[in-house]
Amino acid sequence: MDVKLNRRRFIKGVIASGIAAGAARHGAAVAGGDRPAQAVDRLLSLKINGRIRRVDVLPQETLAHTLRYRLGLTGTKLGCNRGECGACTVLVDDVPHYACSMLTHNARGKAVLTVEGLQSADGTLHPVQQAFVEELAPQCGFCTPGQIMATVGLLRTNPQPTREQARHGLSGNLCRCGAYDHYLNAVMRASGQAT
Ligand code: FES
Ligand code: FES
Repeated sequence: MDVKLNRRRFIKGVIASGIAAGAARHGAAVAGGDRPAQAVDRLLSLKINGRIRRVDVLPQETLAHTLRYRLGLTGTKLGCNRGECGACTVLVDDVPHYACSMLTHNARGKAVLTVEGLQSADGTLHPVQQAFVEELAPQCGFCTPGQIMATVGLLRTNPQPTREQARHGLSGNLCRCGAYDHYLNAVMRASGQAT
């Protein structure tokens, strides 16, 4: 089969739900695996991707942990798990946040959007996802969901960023593969400024 076609399919999988990239643990604890003595789950109602999800959460649990290990939303990646790489970026009330650095309890009453919540019910990709596909932006794809969420957040506040503004907007998202220029091309395409 055509290598380029195969790669485009791989990228679409990464971009729609992050499933093709790094489903393995990246420094994350499995739910309940490092539970301190006397910690008690509390049932929370969270608004995730437009739906109310009821989930038991420990007091010190991070949003990234809850999304991945309790709700199965593994598109949100865990790279560093300490607020350095941006792989876990989600939108909270439309603002990009590192989900590894936010307690789930602090997400109560807020709208959380993950990469799984971007595409339409009929499977149509969000324009940012589509731009990332068209630019064949990812390499391994591990950082891609975070890059996409950072881009969606950026374009909500600045729909037509300059390339420099886009670089600044994505500066909190590291890419071990060094695909930065491809991601910037995708941001420019998503904002209708492809050259
Ligand atoms: S996993 Fe959250 S910033 Fe790296
Ligand atoms: S595409 Fe591999 S880490 Fe960014």
